[in-house]
Amino acid sequence: MDRIRTALDQKRRGTHYADRMHRILGVCQDCGILWHEERVAFTNGSSTLRRVHDIEPVGRVLVTPRYEKYGLHVNTRVLPRLKRMAPQFAYALNVPSTSVEVDGNIVYIRVPLDDGQSDGLVTFEEAWSIAQGIPVGSLLLGIDDDRRQLVLEMISPTNVHAAVVGMTGSGKSTLLKTMIMSAQRIGGSQVALFDPSGGFRPFSGHPSVWRGGLFSRPDDCELGLEALARGIGRGPGRLTFVFVDEVPELIAQRPEIKKHLARLAQAGRHAGLHLVIGAQHLLASDVGSMTLRNIPVRLVGRVADRMAAYQATSRNDTGAESLRGRGDFVAVNGSTVRHFQVAYLTEADLEEWARRYAPRDAMVPVRPEVRTAQRAPVYALAGSGGGGGGGGDGRPPDEIPERALREIQRYIRKNGRRPSLNWVYRMTKEMLPTGGFNRDKARRAIRLAAHPPEAARAQR
Ligand SMILES: Nc1ncnc2c1ncn2[C@@H]1O[C@H](COP(=O)(O)OP(=O)(O)O)[C@@H](O)[C@H]1O
Ligand SMILES: [Mg+2]
Repeated sequence: MDRIRTALDQKRRGTHYADRMHRILGVCQDCGILWHEERVAFTNGSSTLRRVHDIEPVGRVLVTPRYEKYGLHVNTRVLPRLKRMAPQFAYALNVPSTSVEVDGNIVYIRVPLDDGQSDGLVTFEEAWSIAQGIPVGSLLLGIDDDRRQLVLEMISPTNVHAAVVGMTGSGKSTLLKTMIMSAQRIGGSQVALFDPSGGFRPFSGHPSVWRGGLFSRPDDCELGLEALARGIGRGPGRLTFVFVDEVPELIAQRPEIKKHLARLAQAGRHAGLHLVIGAQHLLASDVGSMTLRNIPVRLVGRVADRMAAYQATSRNDTGAESLRGRGDFVAVNGSTVRHFQVAYLTEADLEEWARRYAPRDAMVPVRPEVRTAQRAPVYALAGSGGGGGGGGDGRPPDEIPERALREIQRYIRKNGRRPSLNWVYRMTKEMLPTGGFNRDKARRAIRLAAHPPEAARAQR
């Protein structure tokens, strides 16, 4: 679907575009910046004036899902004035607002479409199918003003981490979901999901999900993020995207989360971890200034005002305060600004995904302090005796870590029954560097978790 229309040859709306371009040039003329006169001297001493155009229309209008963009070639001497003329253009075109954007050597007057006029919205499937084969390490965002597929290469050294910022209803969670879905469909990465509002639930049952499910309670989120942060020193790990929505809210409830995010933002890249956080505001006082410095990519939707736009992007001129909500976003990294429309997943897409991969809660890690506080962090089992010290028969003791037992106990408390041997295998495989328990060991672990020996109980 080619949305690039030329101003003059378009059958149906050509006059509309031509008329609007004409009005834009009219405003420039009224403000005295359309052209200027230069004196041309002749050899006989008399001189004449020559008119030089400072602004000329580019011969086409770009139509994006939410805007029309009128392109102008502009002499840099009038550019500063032109940039301040957005209100005059809005008045002349009879629209609520416009913005003036410099893009390479073209200046665009961006004019919003009526909400009724913008079919506007771009589905995940549309954006996904524009180009095949998004590489592992990149995530789908949506489509840009030229209707090209826009992806964010997270593994590029200049990107690494991203923050999604905007007021309620701007479409943050929608964008995060699109990014998660793309990671799961592209494959080759692990996805850690933290979301107190539960919006990520439809993705939580997919095999790519770290610790097998969604972290939603704030204290679980704290434990999960702490475990990720602590894992950083252990060399390069699997490529993992860590999605955290409602970050200021989480930090308000569990202040330690701020520290864990700072660690992940600062050093996560060395362990293959890439943060994608969602927040209504990006205030250093909430999130921490170090964390902000280490998150170079800002995906910003509608924000309240210029101040918020500045906080979100660390720049003055992104125009994020005039974005329109519902997935109208800019991607900002340093001096680069790209406008885009977020691709969205329909309810049906989400339900279908949840049907295929039944949503689950995460297996919450236990806190390391608990482990070190206990002098004997393991139950040492010798044969069937339980309790006791090491294996008396010369074999190394067959140790079952405390945290594995705790995890089984949590399962039993929550579900009112013992887990399957398979479940224990999966859980321990995820948790322990030594791998999953075999059937025999899983059986003993379950028995032990259900009836902890007195000695162990006293220790707790
Ligand atoms: N990309 C989009 N396309 C279409 N509608 C959207 C898009 N993003 C958001 N919306 C609409 O806005 C509502 C709020 O979006 P949401 O992602 O929950 O915003 P936020 O998390 O910023 O509060 C959604 O329920 C949807 O109706
Ligand atoms: Mg949200």
